Amino acid sequence: MRIVCLISGGGSNLQALIDWQKKGLLGNAKLVAVASNVADAKGLRRAKKAGIPSVVQSHNNYPDRKSFGLMLANAIDIYEPDLLALAGFMRILSPDFISAYSGRLINIHPSLLPKYKGLNTHARALEAGDSEAGATVHWVTEELDGGEIIRQSKVPIIAGDTEKTLKARVLKAEHSLYPSVIRDLSLGEVKQCTN
Ligand code: GRF
Repeated sequence: MRIVCLISGGGSNLQALIDWQKKGLLGNAKLVAVASNVADAKGLRRAKKAGIPSVVQSHNNYPDRKSFGLMLANAIDIYEPDLLALAGFMRILSPDFISAYSGRLINIHPSLLPKYKGLNTHARALEAGDSEAGATVHWVTEELDGGEIIRQSKVPIIAGDTEKTLKARVLKAEHSLYPSVIRDLSLGEVKQCTN
């Protein structure tokens, strides 16, 4: 299963995938490329270090979401992906892009969906006085963070937590959640998308 990982920033989830792959833990999945909409994303350096090819398509070069999506798809399709894994990719994708990759597009989101779609998830969980937080891997559909849930990982919220401490705890959980879902998808052990 050929995986293209889409990033915009730090790429710690990408690093987790690279690490699992190096250890032979990713099942039949293979990271074949990384795509970023941000030219200086730190994750691009991680890809380079791991010897994984990368492409950059800056959304700033396109007048609208649709044309950006088209060019992004062109750049990605060279790598013949079976699965696109969004990992901190901070652009909303066009409906055309999403339908072109329907059933082959997953995302990791730092909350226990359906709670806290969108941004500032940790602050919102703290503000609400929740006792637990976590991360969700889900199929991507046109509804932002609304596609069918594949798997979640929960962490406790501890007295005295700040956005920073909670974010770190959730990220750590993400780093085994995402690779394990991708491994299981590659082994046919995850129900296909029915959205
Ligand atoms: C993660 O919290 C992920 O859930 C969200 O964006 C963050 C990306 O972090 N979608 P990183 O770039 O993988 O370090």
